[in-house]
Amino acid sequence: MKLRILFVDDEPHVLQGLQRMLRGMRDVWEIATAASGPEALDLLSRKPVDVVVTDMRMPGMDGNQLLQEIKNRYPEIVRIILSGQSDREMVLKSVRPAHQYLSKPCRDEILKSTIERSCGLRDLLADNSLKRLISRLDSLPSQPALYLEILRELESPYSSMHRIGEIISQDLGMTAKILQLVNSAFFGFRRHISSPAEAAELLGLETIKALVLSVKIFSQLDKAGMKVFAVDRIWAHSLATGVFAKTIATAEKQERTVIDDAFMAGLLHDAGKLILAANLPQQYKEALVAARNKGSSDLEEEQRAFRVTHAEVGAYLLALWGLPFPIVEAIAFHHSPSQCPHQELGILTAVHVGSALELLLHHEKDADSQLDRKYLAELEILHKLPEWQALYRQTLEEGPDHDA
Ligand SMILES: [Fe+2]
Ligand SMILES: [Fe+2]
Repeated sequence: MKLRILFVDDEPHVLQGLQRMLRGMRDVWEIATAASGPEALDLLSRKPVDVVVTDMRMPGMDGNQLLQEIKNRYPEIVRIILSGQSDREMVLKSVRPAHQYLSKPCRDEILKSTIERSCGLRDLLADNSLKRLISRLDSLPSQPALYLEILRELESPYSSMHRIGEIISQDLGMTAKILQLVNSAFFGFRRHISSPAEAAELLGLETIKALVLSVKIFSQLDKAGMKVFAVDRIWAHSLATGVFAKTIATAEKQERTVIDDAFMAGLLHDAGKLILAANLPQQYKEALVAARNKGSSDLEEEQRAFRVTHAEVGAYLLALWGLPFPIVEAIAFHHSPSQCPHQELGILTAVHVGSALELLLHHEKDADSQLDRKYLAELEILHKLPEWQALYRQTLEEGPDHDA
């Protein structure tokens, strides 16, 4: 089925330019245009689309208002802003309703890859209500202690950029959000960035202050009623998996970007658990209780309740947010690495092994069944597990340098 995309801009020559630029995509994309927010909404009420790409500054309803409206009425639609750099202030205000941001003029390969990346996983979730719920999320809840710490740091007259980077890189919610921003083409950083400290540095103190203190891009988890999910353990396991994955990638002499991505994917791999706990607590709780009572695995019960597991849930959100594809892929397949189309030692391997061994170390439920030994045997690395475990222990003793 063709991907349906709606472009909204009050300047006719911009729409004509886009149509010319995308002529080659006619076989795979169906393109519609609208000259204003109300015209776009009218069109949407008559015809569904998959993606909306809108200008920011338009007379009457601006891009921010339009996306807010679309988010309320049709949350499953991917929302992208395509705006001039002079509108930076406005764009910063609109980071909540938008999934991704592009800057005008936009090269065709960037436009194409942004749209493709955000829709790459649209068939991953069978359940439409789950899709709508995830598309509506604009943050992943942070650990309350770290959330308070970053507010304190930003409000202080002596805020330190280094410290801010450090706090962000310990929290998966903050990390995911910051990576969403810096990896969008709007800010003009060409390479893909997967270190939260570097991301914070690039955005700069003033932008981070505005985003966190006034736009409120971060949120904290309300822990009431969350006991059953052991969220503190999810957070600790996430950070530990990041460190473990980085240790493995380093030991295997992977490139610097792979090592950074391995840490990031490890930190983010169980984001789906937080999404489910924070947004569908009742259903998720029932699934976990059923697993305990029946002696089945949590993954089986997640599958039964949501028709997917937390792996796909997390990957779906982070793909919508435009995180680098290797990270999204590692998250999507971290419990089923054999099913990944790319069978090679890399980020996914590091995260899969890191997560499973960390659970084993803590004698967690289902831990042993989580390690896919056949996958590791096929990559001829099964014999390396003891070596990686020893290196990880050594890293912990030395103290993890996870914000490097
Ligand atoms: Fe997991
Ligand atoms: Fe895990």
